Amino acid sequence: MRLIIASTGATGQVYFVHLLRVLIERDIEVHAVLSSWGERVLLHETKKTFRDIEAMGVVVYRGENLLARPASGSFRHDGMVILPCSMKTLAGVAGGYADNLVLRAADVALKEGKRLILCPRETPLGVVHLENLLRAARLGAAVMPPMAAFYGHPRSIDEMVDHFIGRLLDRLGIENDLAYRWEGEEEPPMVEG
Ligand SMILES: Cc1cc2nc3c(=O)[nH]c(=O)nc-3n(C[C@H](O)[C@H](O)[C@H](O)COP(=O)(O)O)c2cc1C
Repeated sequence: MRLIIASTGATGQVYFVHLLRVLIERDIEVHAVLSSWGERVLLHETKKTFRDIEAMGVVVYRGENLLARPASGSFRHDGMVILPCSMKTLAGVAGGYADNLVLRAADVALKEGKRLILCPRETPLGVVHLENLLRAARLGAAVMPPMAAFYGHPRSIDEMVDHFIGRLLDRLGIENDLAYRWEGEEEPPMVEG
């Protein structure tokens, strides 16, 4: 399996690093793309550089590099994830404005009918963001905001991140035990009114 994993300049770079780590552990071929603001926020939030990502064992490209392989529809892969996805990158995907490698690879994924998963991060969401999310979904992208879940009673940030990455792997069809699985509960007894 070969995946394109992109990071853009939104908060939540810990998810990006964690996703790379679990994919590498599973021997999945990863082509990572960092937009210039993705690289900057990655450094701010995780202290990791472009070279550190490269040292994890993935092929890494800078967003400015439109000569890179993922810019072409001839590049075979099994899907692309943008995590985290900024509102600017979301706007580019929704509008088909492909002026960097993240946007071009996403545009190509849509035109080639490949899986594209956007993990948008912003709050609150304005009307333009909501319209772009709907537009991206209608174009065929899956929209998976990196939201925490509490029903598994996470005890740490790592457990929260694990749960989201597990659900993302579920969407990619990759077996995992990272996500908390709801086992069901006894139905509460009816209260006599
Ligand atoms: C520390 C930091 C955090 C940011 N967080 C967000 C965010 O959560 N969501 C967002 O849409 N933009 C965020 N931004 C703004 C984007 O980085 C900015 O819009 C940039 O142009 C995005 O470019 P890119 O999508 O090409 O990476 C943040 C910027 C900084 C410096």
